[in-house]
Amino acid sequence: MASFSAVAYYIPYSSSFFPNKPPKFNNRRRNPVVKFTCKAKNGETSPGTLDRRDVLLGLGGLYSTTSLSANPMALADPALPDFKDCIDATQPNKTLINCCPPAPSRIKDYVPSATTVNTRISAQSVEVGSDYYNKYTEAIQKMKNLSPSDPRNFRQQANVHCAYCDGGYTLKGSPKLLYEIHNSWLFFPWHRWYVYFFEKICQKLIDDDTFTLPFWNWDAPQGMQIPSIYNSNVISPLYDCFRNPDHLPPTVINLEWSYGDVQVDPKIQIEYNLAIMYTQMITQSKTPNDFFGKAYRAGDDITTLDGAGTIEQTPHNHVHTWTGTAVDQSNPIDMGALYSAARDPIFFAHHANVDRMWTIWLNNLGGSNFTDKDWLNAYFIFYNEEAKPVRVRVKDCLDITKLGYQYEDVPIPWLDGSVKPKPRAKAKTLPSAPDPAQVFPTTLDKPISVIVKRPKKSGTGSSEEILIIEGIEYDKRNYVKFNVFINEDNVNASRPNNTEFLGSFSNLPHGHRMTVKTNKKFRISQVLEELGARDYDKVLVTLIPKSSPVKINDGMLCRGGLFGEEHDTLVFQ
Ligand code: C2O
Repeated sequence: MASFSAVAYYIPYSSSFFPNKPPKFNNRRRNPVVKFTCKAKNGETSPGTLDRRDVLLGLGGLYSTTSLSANPMALADPALPDFKDCIDATQPNKTLINCCPPAPSRIKDYVPSATTVNTRISAQSVEVGSDYYNKYTEAIQKMKNLSPSDPRNFRQQANVHCAYCDGGYTLKGSPKLLYEIHNSWLFFPWHRWYVYFFEKICQKLIDDDTFTLPFWNWDAPQGMQIPSIYNSNVISPLYDCFRNPDHLPPTVINLEWSYGDVQVDPKIQIEYNLAIMYTQMITQSKTPNDFFGKAYRAGDDITTLDGAGTIEQTPHNHVHTWTGTAVDQSNPIDMGALYSAARDPIFFAHHANVDRMWTIWLNNLGGSNFTDKDWLNAYFIFYNEEAKPVRVRVKDCLDITKLGYQYEDVPIPWLDGSVKPKPRAKAKTLPSAPDPAQVFPTTLDKPISVIVKRPKKSGTGSSEEILIIEGIEYDKRNYVKFNVFINEDNVNASRPNNTEFLGSFSNLPHGHRMTVKTNKKFRISQVLEELGARDYDKVLVTLIPKSSPVKINDGMLCRGGLFGEEHDTLVFQ
């Protein structure tokens, strides 16, 4: 069924990638899989990379009954928002909300070229009542006092986030697809620009161009609670009453928080958090695709892009839900849902720290930015400190000194291998469990364990084995989370600082009126090595639901091959 002409369709995009032998299709599974050995350069999404979605497209409609639909004619352009037609976004409670900023006219291109560099400091180091605190609260108060129609007004600023992520904009081009700045490689650069302009507006309002926003240093023990400046008193402009009352200081944050989790001893929670940081920033973040998320281009359907990067999922999502979700997981407020998240001033400190992770990944961990033009040329529109609309590009935010800021050099305790997760129990005999084919599709409403066969050759040299959970389906408006364990015969005994805890899949409630179907990948070569299970021919995978149920349609598999270099390049037997 897999005709070769399907692949030839891609020749116009790159004539150089084509291997001597045609890729083979393996139709053992519902989704075709490509045997293909194009070596992509580290971090680059080579135009020759054939991913499964492309293959589906190439099959010319054979698979069009799946939800994997994108515009095949537009694969080689950046994903751009269409600003002309901002529409109402949807709230998780399904009502509509108008987040559209005033329609921008006469948009100017903006390239920053700061000559002085200010230092963003850690929020926990700021004392209530200090000069800095007074400036910060003055800036936010002035922002709140601006006319509601001023695009720099605090609520208008929060709405910028809402419009960009809750269905306010469509993707330029046709057919009309929703545009979104989460769940893809746009996540880091969009939020960097967003915080940048918010900071510029603060500077302008207090007439101090040395002012910087603080960062919520949730990755270090001293910062692992809501910084006191956000909780000083209820009339402070930095206060937000829509925070989870159980999570006020000195409660230690849980970077893998699931709705309903019980609080553990603070010291232990800190150990878990450091282990989680290690896992997310180091073990699971080997390539730009891992770290930033997946390519999102013109014509891509965000609802089928398995696009979120490691940090966006954990800890980013959980810091949101931990801070903002109270009472009822079906009705999250402020930080707990994307349409309202930036109504809490702590949002900008949270995202300054997310942004700091980007700098750490590049400077301390040898990471690199994408060199793909569709990433570099993607643009966004913001209102600047003069309330004028500007167009900014990803490529112009890569050097933060040109943006005029840097981060205070605070300790990064999770860089130290001593916090790395340790096996709970080495080299266990795996209990028996059904094969994925016997279990999926299923609704994840109770814990599920399956035994997944491993590819014959994997985990050697530079190749890396990936565990993929395929076809995770949910409504984007819902809070979703499930935890994933590997080779763990007693999940109740397993903790986030155990190697057996691989991580989680999560969705922060968005307003999009849509069902999402996505995949989740984990790197497992190193994990299996540490568990003493390198030579096992199977792995035991356990999923523990932590939210209202999601559906898993397509199952689970392990793949080995060139994933070390490039997610989308598959080589396996
Ligand atoms: Cu745009 Cu933390 O989300």
